[in-house]
Amino acid sequence: MSTSVRSFAKINIGLKIGPAREDGFHELRTIYQTVGLADLVRVDVGRGLGIEIVCRDKRVPTDESNTCWRAAERVLKALKTRGKVRITIEKKLPVQGGLGAASSNAVATMLALERELKKPLAEEERLRIASEVGSDVPLFLIGGTVLGIGRGEQVFTLEDLPSWHCVIATPDVGVSTPQAFADWDRQHADKLTARRVSDKMDVFSRSVYAWLSGSRFSPTGVPAGWDRAEALLLDLVRTGIENDFESVVFPKYPAIREAKRALERAGAKYVSLSGSGSTVYGLFLHAENAGNAAQKLSDNGVPAHSTVTLPREQYWKEMFGK
Ligand code: C5P
Repeated sequence: MSTSVRSFAKINIGLKIGPAREDGFHELRTIYQTVGLADLVRVDVGRGLGIEIVCRDKRVPTDESNTCWRAAERVLKALKTRGKVRITIEKKLPVQGGLGAASSNAVATMLALERELKKPLAEEERLRIASEVGSDVPLFLIGGTVLGIGRGEQVFTLEDLPSWHCVIATPDVGVSTPQAFADWDRQHADKLTARRVSDKMDVFSRSVYAWLSGSRFSPTGVPAGWDRAEALLLDLVRTGIENDFESVVFPKYPAIREAKRALERAGAKYVSLSGSGSTVYGLFLHAENAGNAAQKLSDNGVPAHSTVTLPREQYWKEMFGK
């Protein structure tokens, strides 16, 4: 017997980087949104001991540095169980792409392993393990639209945004997240700038507040005389919510900036870097425009896919679906 789980990707709608903390991590503010592209993670448990990772993609580590390995080890320990755990990852998402693929794989492993062992973890245990494995892992225990604070691991359920068409474009360059944070630190080294960084965190929070409770909206969140998906997208642009990593990643990797411009030219309403990249995504109101944009980017040598943003209910339904 084995359990297969779809391991969906996320994008970041806005990402504000705060000061580096004493533990070396950076304080963050971000909105995570799950999207319809996924890896497939299969878990089976047999007799014996140990954890084995199987993946055809040679860029994926198969030792204890793999997030799935680390998640599985912790789940076994928390459930006081032993066994031979084999985790097979069918990779479709880019590796190191800013889409949280490795983090999502870790949650898929946790959930599949619990099912295989027929022993559920307590919610709090699940969250503890997820945040130990990585900052981007806990969001996948919620799915849909999620607020992330702290180092990104403190997650809060937000009311789902409408489902937009979404083009994911991943130029073929690897961006190291720790390096991107280090570049950010260098850019904001002096004290005065550090204070400005904190102020900007507050501005970000206010922008998100303004965006999600815009004056155009009735208390139910449905704008009078407006299509909600369209109004929210226009407001997102107007409110100026951005990803801070763009200012360090674009100068270093012009191909990523170029992909963002290509999405803008192709008619995306909102375009942004996801995480520290290299993925940039564009949000569209119409499937046809999104499909054409993905085709155009692919024709020009930038791997691109058209998908949709995935609300919470769908995220959970499709995760275990056939
Ligand atoms: O938590 P995770 O393993 O994904 O983080 C990878 C690295 O990214 C950390 O070791 C740290 O260098 C950096 N990071 C950070 N601040 C965050 C999240 C990650 O500096 N909020």
